[in-house]
Amino acid sequence: MPLSRRSFLVTGSLAAGALATVKPFAAKAAAPEDLQDWSVVRQQFDLDPNYAHLGLFYLTSHPRPVRAAIESYRKQLDANPFLTVERGMFEDNIPLRVTTAIGKYTGANAQDIALTQNTTTGLSLIYHGLPLKSGEEILTTNHDHYVHHEAIRLATERNGASWRKIPLWESWSNISADGIVDHIRREIRPNTRVVGVTWVHSQSGVRLPIRRIADMIADVNRDRANRVLLVVDGVHGVGVEDPRFTALGADAFSAGLHKWIFAPRGTGFVWAKPEVWATMRPLIPSFSTFELFNAWEEGHPPTTTPKAAWFTPGGFQSFEHQWAVPAAIDFHNAIGSERITQRIHALNQQMNVEVRKLPNVKIVYTPLDPQLNAGMVCFDMNGLNAQQTVNKLLEKKIIASTTPYAVPFARLAFGIMNTQQEVEATARALRSMA
Ligand SMILES: Cc1ncc(COP(=O)(O)O)c(C=O)c1O
Repeated sequence: MPLSRRSFLVTGSLAAGALATVKPFAAKAAAPEDLQDWSVVRQQFDLDPNYAHLGLFYLTSHPRPVRAAIESYRKQLDANPFLTVERGMFEDNIPLRVTTAIGKYTGANAQDIALTQNTTTGLSLIYHGLPLKSGEEILTTNHDHYVHHEAIRLATERNGASWRKIPLWESWSNISADGIVDHIRREIRPNTRVVGVTWVHSQSGVRLPIRRIADMIADVNRDRANRVLLVVDGVHGVGVEDPRFTALGADAFSAGLHKWIFAPRGTGFVWAKPEVWATMRPLIPSFSTFELFNAWEEGHPPTTTPKAAWFTPGGFQSFEHQWAVPAAIDFHNAIGSERITQRIHALNQQMNVEVRKLPNVKIVYTPLDPQLNAGMVCFDMNGLNAQQTVNKLLEKKIIASTTPYAVPFARLAFGIMNTQQEVEATARALRSMA
């Protein structure tokens, strides 16, 4: 008799212990005290030592404990894919362990977290899931990533709502929290149902005052029957700023875990308030709750209100990657999230200050105010475009990036595996580029 997910759960058709069950992964990180030393932290990454890696926010290199966790699950999957997936998914419920680990790290309720493969999938699930209709609009900004705008465009093309982009400041030399909040407030119209913003702009390194934007929207909502929701692309804040993102006051929040969190490539999550999930419609069938499967078996639609688990895309996944997420969170906790925030800010602030001193730098887009920046520094050189700047740095074995926006800037991003010496070497390299 084939072993269905339900019969496996209900009848326990295999004798317990006949084959090894999926073990919770015990992180084999260096002892926590070792990770207080930044050079030991750096040694956890198999990065090519011939380069200064200033673009690791783009896609992570897996640190040692994450590689070990992936390898442990990969071996189990290769030895016995059927039993490993049946047990991991439907008996041990490892996805629940993953959402619990994310919840513990961020202060969010695990029940309000859906697992995704990246920020892009999460934004699409949110915008396609919200019950918008013709005549309503989504207000977003000129500063968000391509995938954010595309998620909105694709969703509104289906549901008939409209969308608008606005700038958050008039000039790069005059960016302020007050100005950003005012720019959004004056553009909210009676038919605006969603404001979609990005916590840290990968275009410029600007960090938005999300809490203040949320407070302003709460104020606007006082006089409205139809609440305006705040949707945040949080990918460049998670793993850099204070992890308790629910304190920012957003209604829905999407982030990849494969950038600053160093979780396996192809992992991410969406969080939303339970009352927001309850209004949403899933896009992709989920394997994360029997509620949906049971309703399907019984031949009717689900009878309860939607919740986060309904939104975790089902179908088989790179399970060894999804299940190894807690190892990355353990790694962050062993280093200490406050130390991580402090380190990333210190290195990028130092770079920001150094870049401003260079006579051949034309403009620095990232504000110097530590309340308005995070883990990157974006700028233009005199006489070189962004790609030429990045190419010249690469000749000197420094890996920078250009920002993938209509007008690209040169971008440097220092993470916890980088050093003050790399900041100084980068400043020297830029200075030498006539
Ligand atoms: C602001 C922002 N949002 C979303 C993304 C897409 O991230 P992901 O690969 O997790 O979908 C990026 C890419 O780096 C980004 O910079």
